[in-house]
Amino acid sequence: MIDFHLNGEPQSLAGLPPDTSVLELLRTRLNATGTKEGCASGDCGACTVAIGEPDGQGGLRYHNANACILPAHQLKGCHLVTVEGLARGDALHPAQAAMVDCNASQCGFCTPGIVMSLFTLYEATLHEAGRQHASLAPFSQARLEAALGGNLCRCTGYRPIRDAAQAMLAYPADERRAAWAENEHLPARVADSVQDGSADGTSYHRPKSLAELFALRRNRPEARLVAGATDLWLERTQQLKALPELIDLRNVAELQVLEEHDQGLHIGAAVTYARLEPIFESHFPAFARLLHRFASSQIRHRATLGGNVANASPIGDGPPVLLALDATLVLDGPEGSREMPAQDFFLDYRQTALEAQEVLCEIRLPWLPEGRQLKVWKLSKRREDDISAVLGAFSWQLEGGRLHDVRLAFGGMAAVPARARSAEAALEGQPPSEAAFAAARQALDDDFQPLSDVRGSSAYRRLAAANLLERLRLKIVTATSTSADTPDTPAVEVTLDAYAD
Ligand code: FES
Ligand code: FES
Repeated sequence: MIDFHLNGEPQSLAGLPPDTSVLELLRTRLNATGTKEGCASGDCGACTVAIGEPDGQGGLRYHNANACILPAHQLKGCHLVTVEGLARGDALHPAQAAMVDCNASQCGFCTPGIVMSLFTLYEATLHEAGRQHASLAPFSQARLEAALGGNLCRCTGYRPIRDAAQAMLAYPADERRAAWAENEHLPARVADSVQDGSADGTSYHRPKSLAELFALRRNRPEARLVAGATDLWLERTQQLKALPELIDLRNVAELQVLEEHDQGLHIGAAVTYARLEPIFESHFPAFARLLHRFASSQIRHRATLGGNVANASPIGDGPPVLLALDATLVLDGPEGSREMPAQDFFLDYRQTALEAQEVLCEIRLPWLPEGRQLKVWKLSKRREDDISAVLGAFSWQLEGGRLHDVRLAFGGMAAVPARARSAEAALEGQPPSEAAFAAARQALDDDFQPLSDVRGSSAYRRLAAANLLERLRLKIVTATSTSADTPDTPAVEVTLDAYAD
C-alpha cells in the first residue's frame, strides 16, 4: 500500500508494480497530465514535481525531483505537489503569475517543470525565512543556477525565466501553502510491514535495519537494491527492462548515518547529496562545488554518494574525489563488517570488491589536515547536468617547497576510477616546477590508455588529463608565489568547460 498526499488530498494505492515511476503513475493512473515527459532520464526537467517530506519540526520541506526516474513507491508518507496543484481557480501561484508576467514561456513544454522548480525554490526560501515573506532578499545568481540548472528550455531563453524567479517573491503569498506545510496528517513513511506486494508476485521492500536487509537478500538474491534510483531507473526508461523486485535502502537506519568524528566524516551510503552539501561547503569546498557540476537540484535531492560508489561507473564523479581524499569504505554483510581503502574497491569495469551478500554501508572521509589541498575539475560538454568526459581530483601537501603525499585521481580515463601512480611518483618530493610536471604529464601515458566514446576520443582524454595537471601546477605556483618560474602565461586552455575555482 502506498499512502501519500497529492496536492493536499490523501491517496492510497494498492498493487502498484514496483517499477512504476511517479510520472507513469501521474499520467496513466491519476489523470494528471500537466507533468511532461521529455528525456525520461533525469536530464531535461520537464517532469519536475515537488516532494514534501517531514522536516523534523512538524513541518514539511519541499524539494524538486524528476518524476520520470522517481519510483512511485518512494512517495509513501510524502506530499507530492504537481503543477495541477498550484493555482486555485483563476488565482495563480506566485511562480506561475511571475512566469506569465515576465513572458517566460513560449511552446510551454518545459514550463510545468520550470514552474515546479520555482515553486520549490519559493517554498524553500519561505521555509528558511520562517515564512516571513517581507524579509526576503533577491536571489543570488548562484542560488538561481542551483535551483534551475536541471530544467532545460529550448525556445524561451533563460533570461525571462530568471526574471520570473526574481519577481515571484514580490507577489502576495498563497496562504494555502502554510496549511500544506504541516505534516501531522501525512501517513507514516515507513510501513509496519516491510513489503508492498503486487498481485503478480512482484514486490517492493522497505527494510528498516541492516538485519532486515540481510534477511531479505538471503531469500531474494535477484532483488535489486535502490536508493535514489537516479541510475538504476534508466534501465527501466532507456533499456525498457522490468525491475520486478526492489529493496529500498532509504529507510535502513544504519545507511542514513551522517556524523562528524575527530578523524573525519562518516557518511551512510543512503545519504543524499543535498544533505552532504552544507557539510562539504564547510570542510571540502572543492567537493561541494563539484556537486553543482555533478547533478541538478532534482538529482542531488534523491541521489546518494553510496549509489555513485557502488554502481562503480568509470565516469562517476564521486569516486575520484574519494581516491584523492584517501577515503575508507565500510562494507557490511551477514558475516560482519570490514573496512577497505576506496582505491581497492573498484576491481574492473562495474565490478567491485563487494561479496555476494555485502552492501556498502558507509563512506569515511578523513578531514583535510592543515596545509593539505584538494582540487577537483570536471570536463563535460555542458556546464550543468552532464556526464564527465574526464574528471581530475588532486590532493597534495606542500612542505618546504616540495610536494608530498600527492594523490592524482581520474575518472573517464580507464575502466575504473583510478589514481595515476606513475604521475604521482614523478611529482613526489619535487618542487612544483615545470620540469616535474612535464615528467608527470609524460607519465600519464604509462598510467592510462583511455577509450574513445561519445564523450571524447582517447587522444582528447589524454590531452585533457595532461592539461589538468598543468592547470594544477599553475594553481599551486600562483597560490604560493614561491617559485621562480611562476609563469605569466594565460591559464591552460581546455577544450571543454572547466569551472573556475
Ligand atoms: Fe526529462 Fe524527466 S523527462 S528529466
Ligand atoms: Fe518551449 Fe521552454 S518554452 S521548451
